[in-house]
Amino acid sequence: MSTGTDLGMPQLPAPDYPTDVRARLEADAREVIGRYPDSRSALLPLLHLVQAEEGYVTRTGVRFCAERLGLTTAEVTAVATFYTMYRRKPSGDYQVGVCTNTLCAVLGGDAIFDALKSHLGVENGETTGDGKVTLEHIECNAACDFAPVLMVNWEFFDNQTVESAKRLVDDLRAGRTVEPTRGAPLCTYRETSRILAGFPDERSGAVDAGGGAGHASLAGLRLAKGDTGPARVGPPRGAPPLGERPPEHPSSHDAPQPTSASDPRHPSGPVTGGGRGPATDGRPATGTTEEGEE
Ligand code: FES
Repeated sequence: MSTGTDLGMPQLPAPDYPTDVRARLEADAREVIGRYPDSRSALLPLLHLVQAEEGYVTRTGVRFCAERLGLTTAEVTAVATFYTMYRRKPSGDYQVGVCTNTLCAVLGGDAIFDALKSHLGVENGETTGDGKVTLEHIECNAACDFAPVLMVNWEFFDNQTVESAKRLVDDLRAGRTVEPTRGAPLCTYRETSRILAGFPDERSGAVDAGGGAGHASLAGLRLAKGDTGPARVGPPRGAPPLGERPPEHPSSHDAPQPTSASDPRHPSGPVTGGGRGPATDGRPATGTTEEGEE
């Protein structure tokens, strides 16, 4: 009787790299391992290194890491399957991640992810037929002040809309140049992996374009330092299009937004001396003047 579980046969040992590839990777691995007092600490960058070679962490890559570091392939596999930045199957040149964590989701991330799935004809984790784009939903990327956020090969595309996201993937598939909102220019996933392995990004100007915190991220700091100037309101989401951004990248989320607390008919802020404040049972707050009263 079938148990529904494919017990299969033990896998044969992974094939080795071709001699020239192995020699090149061994030289790179020596450099990486030399940066750490304990060789096994080099596992994460070594996984990026082998991912840069084939676009994902193959069984050959796992074997290579294990042999270089004196680990078992099981130990290496355990790490490679734990972290989502390591891919375990052939994937696209551009990993398009849509943040569907809470803030991005409610500000449009869920709608963007659904739209891209049908626009590209793929589900989560799948790659377009031309091998260009792999779509995935991702967790919070600490860029909530620019929500909803997309990442392409770990570079930020802030304040996205359904339309701008579709344009972005169309441009990637067509080979047109796209610029991240912040940070270094885009490169392929394999090139990104090599940089993450700790090798210098030798593209002209790429390191200088690394960038710092964006305007919206610094809004609280400015306020704490006593900057009481009027908050700037950026353009509404969806405009301007990529390539026509203002130089300082303001965000529409760093200015006071209309909330229930600012609605005099439905105050929800802390109770004040006048007794105004939120009711907890859905009734109008104490002291609130409702239409028709007085
Ligand atoms: S919720 Fe999307 S970056 Fe934080």
